[in-house]
Amino acid sequence: MANDILIKNIKGLVQVRDPQIRSVAGRAMSELPMIENAFLHLSQGLIRDYGTMDEMHQVKSGTTILDASGKFVFPSFVDSHTHLVFAASREEEFVMKIKGATYAEIAAKGGGILNSAKKLRATSEDELFEKTLTRAHEIIKLGTGAVEIKSGYGLTVKDEVKMLRVAKRIGKETLLTVKTTFLGAHAVPSDMKKTDYVKLVIDEMIPAVAEENLADYIDVFCEEGFFSFDETERIVEAGKKYGMKPRIHANQLHRSGGVQVGVKTKALSVDHLENIGEEEIELLKTSSTMPTALPGAAFFLNLPFPPARKMIDEGLPIAIASDYNPGSSPSGNMQVMLSLACIKMKMTPEEAFNAATLNTAAALEISDSHGSITKGKVANIFISKTSPSVAYLPYHFANDFVDQVILKGELIG
Ligand code: NIG
Ligand code: FE
Repeated sequence: MANDILIKNIKGLVQVRDPQIRSVAGRAMSELPMIENAFLHLSQGLIRDYGTMDEMHQVKSGTTILDASGKFVFPSFVDSHTHLVFAASREEEFVMKIKGATYAEIAAKGGGILNSAKKLRATSEDELFEKTLTRAHEIIKLGTGAVEIKSGYGLTVKDEVKMLRVAKRIGKETLLTVKTTFLGAHAVPSDMKKTDYVKLVIDEMIPAVAEENLADYIDVFCEEGFFSFDETERIVEAGKKYGMKPRIHANQLHRSGGVQVGVKTKALSVDHLENIGEEEIELLKTSSTMPTALPGAAFFLNLPFPPARKMIDEGLPIAIASDYNPGSSPSGNMQVMLSLACIKMKMTPEEAFNAATLNTAAALEISDSHGSITKGKVANIFISKTSPSVAYLPYHFANDFVDQVILKGELIG
C-alpha cells in the first residue's frame, strides 16, 4: 500500500462534491465547486480529507508532502468511450480523407473497421496487450484515471474474446479503473451476410463473452450501412439477458434511430450524436440515458459537432469522452477533448470539466468511487501545472496541463 500523501497550498481544489451529487444537467453543469487555498489528504488509496489550509491537521510521519502552490488539483478524467485495444494505426486512411474520400466510402471499400479487424486477427494476445499497455500509460500521464474499453475489431468469436481479455488485463496490470464493452456488432465481415453475422453475435459471441465474464456492457454501431434500429434492439436485448447493459454508438453519420433505440432499451449512454434533431433531443429529456459527445471524432472526421450548447440550455446533461481509436479519433487526450468541447460546442470550461469527470463516471456506473473529490472515493487525481485560472487550462489548447498524477493513492513517476 502506498504512503499517505498530503498536498498542501493548493491554489484551487476543483470538483469537490457531496456524495449524493452523481451527475449534473442543464444549468447545474456550469457550477464547478472549488476550495481555494486548500489541502488534500490521501490515505490507503482513498480520499481521506480536504479543506482550507487553515483547517489542515497533523499527518503521521512518513506521509509524502507535496506543495501545489499556484496549481489546481482535479479528480482524474473518466473516459467513458474508447477503443483502446487495436493492432495498428490507419494513417493511410487519414491521407485518403485529406484527398477527398469520406469515412463511409473508405469503410465500403474494406477499409475502416474491417481494415483494423484484419490487422487485429493477425496479432497475438500478448502483442496486442503490449500495444494497448503503451496507450494506457500514455492516457494515464494525460490525466485519465478510469476508462471504458470496447471490443469490435475482432469480428470473430475468438478475436472478440481476445480483445476483451486484453482490456480486462489492462485493468489488472495498470492503475486504471477499466470497464469493458462487447461491440461485436461494429461492422459485418466482408465474407459474411449480415443476417448470419447478427446470428453469430447473438448465438455465439455474447454467450462466449459472458462465459468468461469479459464484458460489463454491450454496444452496437447503429448506423446506415452498419446495423439498423431493429438489429441493434435484438442484439442489445440478447446482451441484457447475460447482464450486459447497453450503451450505443448513435447518430454519428446519419439520423439512424440510434438515440431512439438507446432510449427504448434504457441504454446507459448514447454516444456520438453528430446528427441529431429536435426529436432525439425531446426523447432524451424523457430518459436517464447519458448523451455523450465525442469531440475528437467530430473534429477528426470533419463532422458537425453535437448540439451540446442547445442540449445543456434545454436542461440535458452532456458527457465527453475521447473515442480513442485508429479510425476516427486517434487520440485519447481528454485535455484536448475539453478544448474542443469549449471551442467547437460552446461549452464553458466548467461544463467541460463536469462532462469529463462527474457525468462520465455516472455513465460508467462508478459514481460511488470516481468523478469527484469526495471523501471515501478512490484517490485518483492530477495536479495541474502552474496556472492563472481553471479556464486557462482548456484555453491553452494542446499544451499538456497535467503536472503530476496520482492513481489509487500512488504517485505516477
Ligand atoms: O466510434 N463509429 C464507429 N466506431 C468508431 C470508429 C471505428 C473505426 O473507424 O475504427 C467510432 O468512431
Ligand atoms: Fe466509438
